[in-house]
Amino acid sequence: MFENIDTPAVLIDQIRVEANMKRLQDYCNAHGIRLRPHIKTHKLPGTALQQIKCGAVGVTCQKVGEAEIMAEGGVGDILITYNIIGKSKVERVRALNDRIDLAVVADSDFVVSGLSNVLQNSTKPLTVLVECDTGMRRCGVQTIEAAMQLAKDIDAAAGLRFGGLMSYPPTGRISEVNTWLDEAKSLILTNGIECPVVSCGNSPDLELWHKAPVVTEHRAGTYIYCDRNMILQGVATEDDCALIVLVTVVSTPTKTRAVIDAGSKALTSDLSLKPGYGLIIGHPGLDISALSEEHGHITSDLPHRLQVGQRLRIIPNHVCPVSNLFDKVHFVRGEKYDQPVSVAARGALT
Ligand SMILES: Cc1ncc(COP(=O)(O)O)c(C=O)c1O
Repeated sequence: MFENIDTPAVLIDQIRVEANMKRLQDYCNAHGIRLRPHIKTHKLPGTALQQIKCGAVGVTCQKVGEAEIMAEGGVGDILITYNIIGKSKVERVRALNDRIDLAVVADSDFVVSGLSNVLQNSTKPLTVLVECDTGMRRCGVQTIEAAMQLAKDIDAAAGLRFGGLMSYPPTGRISEVNTWLDEAKSLILTNGIECPVVSCGNSPDLELWHKAPVVTEHRAGTYIYCDRNMILQGVATEDDCALIVLVTVVSTPTKTRAVIDAGSKALTSDLSLKPGYGLIIGHPGLDISALSEEHGHITSDLPHRLQVGQRLRIIPNHVCPVSNLFDKVHFVRGEKYDQPVSVAARGALT
């Protein structure tokens, strides 16, 4: 199948993409949650527009560069969930804010004053949400009092408008996250500041966010393709996985070892809950046990029976960084070829 595609290659089954998109949109609609999917997983403006057409209120980006590419592709409502630091980046944010509905986040005074310095004379204020650490231990203010203080600072800063709270939550701790954000929101309201948005969500807890009533906005990203991590977390099946890496066996040096043409530069070195660097579809006894840059080592306790030239399909451990490694992906519909698509926002790291 797809013999004309040189490997390693990324195939994306649009039938599965559409099903995953609809599944989460239906869930959000049923629970009155606004969906703002994270584009870090696909990095494709066309897919972002499809998500919006399906009912998403806009998208989430991690980087200004990603947001610029999404806006160029026609996306009109973007949240950048990253502290933006440095005058030149903030100037790009200001230019983007003039063109589309934009919001960013901040977790310190430093970030807020950097934004305000550039936006202070703008005719259109920039919406800023306070990033809260509800247990992930990445960025975010550490206490509800700090969230309230930063909300006040944003509210008072020239050129800025306080937009609400944002958190990237720890997996499986919905109720704890809800309590944190609910208390922070109440404190902010008590201080006379509106808090219209509470943005949260992830794929491991994909259909659990209705149990956190304070959350108004779901930002799942990985759900659009799913991956081995999601399978091992019990929130997706092999049949939900829309992105696979098509590879070729290039060597069978021993009866228990075969080598494929996909190493860390195609599959990434990301690990999962079980050993191995991906799931080889249709070969449950085989394991991708080691990677070098351009070689993947498949090992087995029994003779593997793989042959040089044979093609295999691999579900990556973590699908998002795989999208960042390929200039183009191939859209398919089941076993039918559709079209190649450039990954417009790959490498947009600034
Ligand atoms: C800020 C932010 N929001 C949303 C997401 C999406 O989470 P997931 O990949 O679990 O769908 C991520 C993932 O890294 C993130 O960093």
